Amino acid sequence: MDYRFSAAQGAALSQIAADALLVVLTADKTTTGSEAIDKLIKDAISSKDWECKAGKTLYVHRPVGVKAPRLVLSGAADGSVKAFRAAVSKAVAEVKARSGVQHVALACSEVIESAHAQALVQALDEVTYVYRQTKPSAPKPGSLAKVTVLAAADQGAAIKAGLAAGQGVAAGIALARELGNLPGNHCTPTFLGQEARRLSREFKHIKAEVLDRAAIEKLGMGSFLSVTNGSAQPPRFIVLRYDGGTKTQAPIVLVGKGITFDTGGISLKPGAGMDEMKYDMGGAASVLGTFRALADLKPKINVIGLVPTCENMPSGTATKPGDVVTSMSGQTIEILNTDAEGRLILCDALTYAERFKPAAVIDIATLTGACVVALGHVHSGLFSADDELADALLLAGRQAMDTAWRMPVDEEYGDALKSNFADMGNVGGRDGGAITAAIFLSKFTKAYRWAHLDIAGSAWKSGAAKGGTGRPVGLLTQFLLSQADAGAAAIKPVSDKKAKPVATSARRAPAKRAPVKRQA
Ligand code: BES
Ligand code: MN
Ligand code: ZN
Repeated sequence: MDYRFSAAQGAALSQIAADALLVVLTADKTTTGSEAIDKLIKDAISSKDWECKAGKTLYVHRPVGVKAPRLVLSGAADGSVKAFRAAVSKAVAEVKARSGVQHVALACSEVIESAHAQALVQALDEVTYVYRQTKPSAPKPGSLAKVTVLAAADQGAAIKAGLAAGQGVAAGIALARELGNLPGNHCTPTFLGQEARRLSREFKHIKAEVLDRAAIEKLGMGSFLSVTNGSAQPPRFIVLRYDGGTKTQAPIVLVGKGITFDTGGISLKPGAGMDEMKYDMGGAASVLGTFRALADLKPKINVIGLVPTCENMPSGTATKPGDVVTSMSGQTIEILNTDAEGRLILCDALTYAERFKPAAVIDIATLTGACVVALGHVHSGLFSADDELADALLLAGRQAMDTAWRMPVDEEYGDALKSNFADMGNVGGRDGGAITAAIFLSKFTKAYRWAHLDIAGSAWKSGAAKGGTGRPVGLLTQFLLSQADAGAAAIKPVSDKKAKPVATSARRAPAKRAPVKRQA
């Protein structure tokens, strides 16, 4: 999509040569300054054909006195970015299927700024997205190819900046969404590794390293590997780097859960709706998507992306309830439920993250059904004992309209993870399930500032609009951009947060693999 800015206001709107003119209006300002358009608006309201309210649109074919052959009026609740975004989505929905519409021009009765322009791009991308990769019969991408934003000349620079930012973020969201939608037989751990390599080939600021089973064994990631035991697909551990900052600047590390299909393993999930567990790599997709956005936006910051990726399958070689494994940290884990596998792959990635001496580590995971029960599909769950980091993430979420809600992480919740046979169990029962999952992860994050995002509810939708959402790429990208802009106020490593010496068994010999033949 080609996004432009053009200085045009008032009377000039009726002279715009575009295939469709979209006008966003608020109840406080139902005029544009163009006589022809304002007369039309007044008529539509007085004849009760349209109300200037959020969600209400009016499509007018060949509007009198207007050069554009199509006009869409779209009501916004107010002049806020959020309301504007919703109104743009509605307006675009009116024209996106009309094959005569290639060029759309858009104006707003209220003053719009950079953030409005950014939101507009993301809204357009979202409503025009069509999943096609395994559905050849899907409607062809619409003919819409060009969008011109019309506003006062002095808003030009801000709007152009917003359009550019929006395109970077939208590209990242689109990648995460597409990866989420890909079925498990297409989007395998090997495929995700190839996607990481593709990003590094395409964008010079991104480097990718993809570790295979032998390398993962060498690292001693016994917890991660225990999840792959039942699967014929070989695991991968992906390390991405974006070097936008100085060499000495501590990086932010993003860790994404990459379960390309979660059957539950021996603790098999019920059949109904199990297909949705192809989205269990949503955390991984959001890390890849955020790197895609970074490649475009080039903020001055260093970012590392870590993605442990594998399948969770039942089989004769699968891990069994009661099995005890040794994590890379040396801490042992009694696997009481093989369906709580996300934390088992993340904990080793979190230990691996220590080597980067990070400013902060954020993991992103479709971790628990309990988080969906708690927060539904609106907010991602945010878990962190670090107020500064949590506040920065919450703010970024609000700014990006990709919100998170903070959840508690009091130590008391951790009692549920006690085990008689290992340093901890991997589940703590049904009650407070999203919190005990976060507490489990916290046992591997003592060396740095850390936050966990449970995106089980926000990364995908079920029902008629079933599919990936590309969340929380918007939140993460906004957070990283803000950190890059914050300069001296950016989040810094907490030097006194030294790694707690774990049991003397720490960093034992690499995990033994089950004696079965597998691909490398
Ligand atoms: N991938 C699931 C979590 C999930 C559930 C994501 C629903 C999206 C929608 C995760 O691996 C899982 O199975 N968690 C278990 C944990 C339980 C066994 C403690 C769950 O939530 O039931
Ligand atoms: Mn599971
Ligand atoms: Zn899972």
